[in-house]
Amino acid sequence: MIICHCQSITDHDINAAIDWMRAADADALITPGKIYHALGKAADCGGCMPLFLSTMRQNDNLEVPMHLRTLRRRSQERTNTG
Ligand code: FES
Repeated sequence: MIICHCQSITDHDINAAIDWMRAADADALITPGKIYHALGKAADCGGCMPLFLSTMRQNDNLEVPMHLRTLRRRSQERTNTG
């Protein structure tokens, strides 16, 4: 199914890019911009973003690695203590 009509990106393309990025780097934070870049494309109108993000969220490899999930809280704790 076409997800991004401006760049002709399908759900298969998005899932393949996520799976490839996760296989290459277990700690990678995967964003729409990185997916566009991996596919050699760039977003244009942005109208596909809700469906693009929804497609990304359905991929089990999208999860943020467990040890990176608390970075914001740890950073705030450091700021508050000092
Ligand atoms: S539909 Fe994806 S950038 Fe326009």
